[in-house]
Amino acid sequence: MCGIVGYVGHRQAYPIIIKGLHRLEYRGYDSAGVALIGKDGQIGLYKCKGKVDDLERFMAGKDAESTIGIGHTRWATHGAPNDANAHPHFSQSGRLALIHNGIIENFRVLKDALISHGYTFRSSTDSEVLVNLIEYVQDTNECTLEEAVRIALRQVVGAYAIAVIKRGDPDRIIAARQSSPMAIGIGEGEYFISSDAASIIDYTQKFVYLKDGEVTTIEKGKPLQIKNLYGEPSKVDIQKLEMSISQLEKGGFPHFMLKEIHEQPDTLMDCIRGRVNPDTREIVLSGVLDNKEHFLQAGRIIFVACGTSWHASLIGEHLIENLCRIPVEVEYASEFRYRNPIIRKDDVVIAVSQSGETADTLAAIDIAKRAGAFVYGICNVVGSSIARATDSGTYIHVGPEIGVASTKAFTGQVTVMTMLALLIGKLRGTVDSAFYHEVAGALLDLPEAIRKVLKKAPEVEKLSRIFTYAHNFIYLGRGYNYPTALEGALKLKEISYIHAEGLPAAEMKHGPIALIDAEMPTVVIATLDHTYEKTVSNIEEIKARGGKIIAVISEGDTQLRHRADYTIEVPGTVECLMPIISIIPLQLMAYYIAVSKGRNVDQPRNLAKSVTVE
Ligand code: AGP
Ligand code: GLU
Repeated sequence: MCGIVGYVGHRQAYPIIIKGLHRLEYRGYDSAGVALIGKDGQIGLYKCKGKVDDLERFMAGKDAESTIGIGHTRWATHGAPNDANAHPHFSQSGRLALIHNGIIENFRVLKDALISHGYTFRSSTDSEVLVNLIEYVQDTNECTLEEAVRIALRQVVGAYAIAVIKRGDPDRIIAARQSSPMAIGIGEGEYFISSDAASIIDYTQKFVYLKDGEVTTIEKGKPLQIKNLYGEPSKVDIQKLEMSISQLEKGGFPHFMLKEIHEQPDTLMDCIRGRVNPDTREIVLSGVLDNKEHFLQAGRIIFVACGTSWHASLIGEHLIENLCRIPVEVEYASEFRYRNPIIRKDDVVIAVSQSGETADTLAAIDIAKRAGAFVYGICNVVGSSIARATDSGTYIHVGPEIGVASTKAFTGQVTVMTMLALLIGKLRGTVDSAFYHEVAGALLDLPEAIRKVLKKAPEVEKLSRIFTYAHNFIYLGRGYNYPTALEGALKLKEISYIHAEGLPAAEMKHGPIALIDAEMPTVVIATLDHTYEKTVSNIEEIKARGGKIIAVISEGDTQLRHRADYTIEVPGTVECLMPIISIIPLQLMAYYIAVSKGRNVDQPRNLAKSVTVE
């Protein structure tokens, strides 16, 4: 769940590493560190609790001259976030330094064995066990460092992306991966490594993504060679990543999250471009068309995802059941993988993930593939592990999402699911042609509608100030907007640390209504759709118990304008696309409440962007 970065070549490594760590900080941010090999061949290791800025302050005045280095920004799994547990970690003799992303599940057994061989430990991390294991293996086998890494990793159970450097060896970094991302950037006689290729896009567009169980020695001026854990050579598959640096900057916004909320009209256009023909309103998704038979014969569709991607999948369930008449199940990937699920050969499993690196979703894909199902991916990060592990798929193409709270990825995912459902519905003959074209047209109009909602940001900001001191919130919605309610509540929880619960509006009276009093605001998505009148009744029930209502309503709805305590009016569209519009004010509200509470919006406590551990 952390960010790792490294460099070996002819340039100064430290500035490259610090810049990369800043870009990777969204992945983990409780401590940071670097290890550099100085002119004398000694490893200088500098690390501290806190953010990358703290590390930079700590480094001020220190000798950072080096053309090789590795850096890390941590999201603790073993041991508190403190200076000692920060990475890199030295081996016992100080000969090796290692950074690690992931979890060594059998670290206890390995640690006890190392202790019995006289090893002592300076940190509580599982990662320090690994660096000592590598040193121990190298000492006992008298082998090269790469061999020692391979032998050591054969004893490891868990997830890792690691990079190791050795005292006196300023030309080489050993890197390896199992279930945690690792991209190798290829320059002119130089190499970069990173858990996210985007962080080093300033220097190269050529990348090799290490696969599970692969190890490499990247050596200044030498061609890249990749091996498996048994030393057998693997194919070096170089890919090109096109991305502009401006996509990685805040572009004048105070936070990435606000920038990403405001980007949505453009990101949705990028998502739709080339897929919905503006003249014919026909949809083209090559991932579906190239695999038609799987969708035509599908007995069932199973979505596997986590968090926001799971919420988007709930909307996908409505879309596919409505438009394609295929039974759908939406599974938390973490539950699916451990439940001995029934998977049939004619099931299509759709894995949804912004990062494409979520460990539970990857494991669910593996189970589905082994059971013979066709696995389709809906991912944002190009070349990510999930994008590569799936049989086919559609990228949402909304650009890098850096704020930990997912915003533009959610709307992109729902947009892709809409196109997917329309196209499959058309292929199966289950969608009425007029409706197909109406929804396709509405997709093209979405960016304009979102622009209109975004103009209300100052209004939402004002409203948010009133609720900064609430301790609990309820979010309600029905039908397509029930997942919107879940997503609105998650946004608030994540970044403001206010407890919030999303519910189907009618479920209130089965228990949660007991919570209602004047202190408990309820956010209701009550736009004009076929459940509108029912939702109005739910609002009345809450008002009758003294509750305060903030309602997201359709433009010109005078009934609710008068009944709710506060309203935010949004433009209309076809019912199935309403979540994409109604989530916008909820994203803004969560953002402004968090800002007025002084929270770190882009890097909320305890969270990390990419959950690469179980
Ligand atoms: C969203 O705001 C969250 N940070 C989180 O729930 C996220 O959606 C989840 O971890 C899944 O991530 P993925 O889409 O990258 O797989
Ligand atoms: N398990 C390691 C630790 O706790 C690495 C965590 C990470 O990926 O940041 O230090």
